[in-house]
Parts: sequence; C-alpha cells; structure tokens
Amino acid sequence: MPANLFFEAGPELSVGAIFHETTKNFRAGRLHQGYDAIESVRPVGSWHRDALPESGEGYSLAAVDTTVCQERGSALETLLFRRSVRRYSGADLQVAQLRRLLELVFPQRHSTDLVTDKFPHLRIRRGPLPISQCRLIALVLEVEGIPSGAYWYDPPTSTLHTIHPTSPRPVVERIVFQAEFHRANVIFLLTASLADTVQRYGDRGYRYMLIEGGMMIQALYLAASHLKLSGCVTGSLIQQEFERWLGLDGYQACILNAFAIGHLPDEDSANV
Ligand SMILES: Cc1cc2nc3c(=O)[nH]c(=O)nc-3n(C[C@H](O)[C@H](O)[C@H](O)COP(=O)(O)O)c2cc1C
Repeated sequence: MPANLFFEAGPELSVGAIFHETTKNFRAGRLHQGYDAIESVRPVGSWHRDALPESGEGYSLAAVDTTVCQERGSALETLLFRRSVRRYSGADLQVAQLRRLLELVFPQRHSTDLVTDKFPHLRIRRGPLPISQCRLIALVLEVEGIPSGAYWYDPPTSTLHTIHPTSPRPVVERIVFQAEFHRANVIFLLTASLADTVQRYGDRGYRYMLIEGGMMIQALYLAASHLKLSGCVTGSLIQQEFERWLGLDGYQACILNAFAIGHLPDEDSANV
C-alpha cells in the first residue's frame, strides 16, 4: 500500500470548497462584487509570497531524501494512532521527517495546480482542490540539518524561506503559555490572509478561511500520526506578539493558531 494513500487517494474534492458552496444561502454570494476586479486578484494559494517577509537565504527541501522516514503501513493505522500528544523525547527531528510531513500536508500535484487558478471554488469539479487559504510558518527549534529560526514554507517549490535566522526559543518561551510546548522540535504557526480571502470571496471568505484552518490542523495531526511523531494544536499564544516579531500586519497575513511536533517520548513510543 502506498505510504501516502490516505492523503492522495481520498475523494478528490476539497471539503472546504464544498462547505463554501453548499452553505450559501443567498444568490449573490455566488458572485462577489470583487470578481469585477479579476485582474487584481492573485492566483489562489499564492498570497503568502507577497504577504510574508523574507530575509536572507532559504532552504530548499526538494532534494531531501525522505525514504529514511519511518511511516505507518496503512491509512487505518494512521487514523487509529491519531491523537494529541504534547510530550517529546528531546531528540532532534530529522530534516527528512520535516520534509515528509510538509509533503503530506501539501501534496505536490495539488500545489502546482493551484498556482494558475484564481477562483477554483467557482468550478466545483473532480480534481485537485486543496487547502489554499492557510500556509505554515515553521519555528524551527531542534531539527538536524536546519539552523534554528523562523521560516515560511512555499509548497510548490518545497522551500523554507527565512524570516528570522535566529533561534525563536526566547520568543516561544515568552509568548507560548503552556511550557510543555517549549520542548517541541518545530512549532508551526498557521497563517492566513484576511485581505486575500475577503477580496476573493467577500465576507464569506472569513469562514472559508477558518474552515480551511481546521482542515489544515487535521492534516497536520494525520501527518504526525503517519510519521509516528508527537503532534498537538494550541491556541494559547499571543498572536499579535508573534505577528509583530515576524513582521506581519495581521491583515495581509495573520496568525490563527499553532501546531507543535516532535519525537514521541519513550513511554509513548512503546505503544505505537
Ligand atoms: C484550535 C484549537 C486550539 C486549542 N488550543 C488549546 C490550548 O491552547 N491549550 C490546551 O490545553 N488545549 C488546546 N486545545 C485542545 C488540545 O490541543 C486537543 O485538541 C485536546 O487535547 C483533545 O485532543 P484530541 O483532539 O486528540 O481529542 C485546542 C484545540 C483546538 C482545536
């Protein structure tokens, strides 16, 4: 059975887009006035390239060999072991595990398709229609092969773009309230663009963005379970402080919540 069966072979229709379309209760919702200004609208799923700041060299994960990763053998096993764990062994995460996790959350063939599409939800169809509203900022604390720092991830190119080349640890220890998360290897900040989603979808863009945020969390949980890693969502952080530190304005790009990953502690690994 292919390792990524669960992520690739499900119904090829975006749950977020289906919700968005089928819960419309007024005709005009289908044609938001912003569509008149179609020229000014960026392709869906590309807002992060303009909205997220960059400083210095990034890291391409494209050539990282992921065959060394330990993966569960079936989708059922992945589902059965999906749970919230916020304890960590303390060992470094491998860069291969980080790459594989991101690959599972953003399947490559979905990401490349999105680059040219401006309004994929208007043409509900069979075919790749993945998460486009949310992108991830990785606060790398302990990953072998990648210096500690803050990076945003560009799915089509599998690149981590540097925002801060310095360790996020002091900021994490101040702004993430629950101390158990401080021992995680990577904390992902779920990031979205209120500006982009409202321009594209009108006031319904706000809920569409949140629906996709939920889907993104679930994808992260399943990817962590699939790779036998600890994974847990958290909202106990100060969004605006992170935004300030990262140079986000809270509108072109805002932080929704966070998801921490790491190695399972020994007592949990015994049961996987
Ligand atoms: C969006 C979101 C934010 C959360 N934030 C926190 C939090 O800040 N602190 C906390 O202790 N639990 C938080 N939780 C709950 C846990 O992370 C987790 O969902 C809970 O342990 C239940 O585990 P389960 O989802 O595997 O059933 C949050 C859950 C969600 C969905």
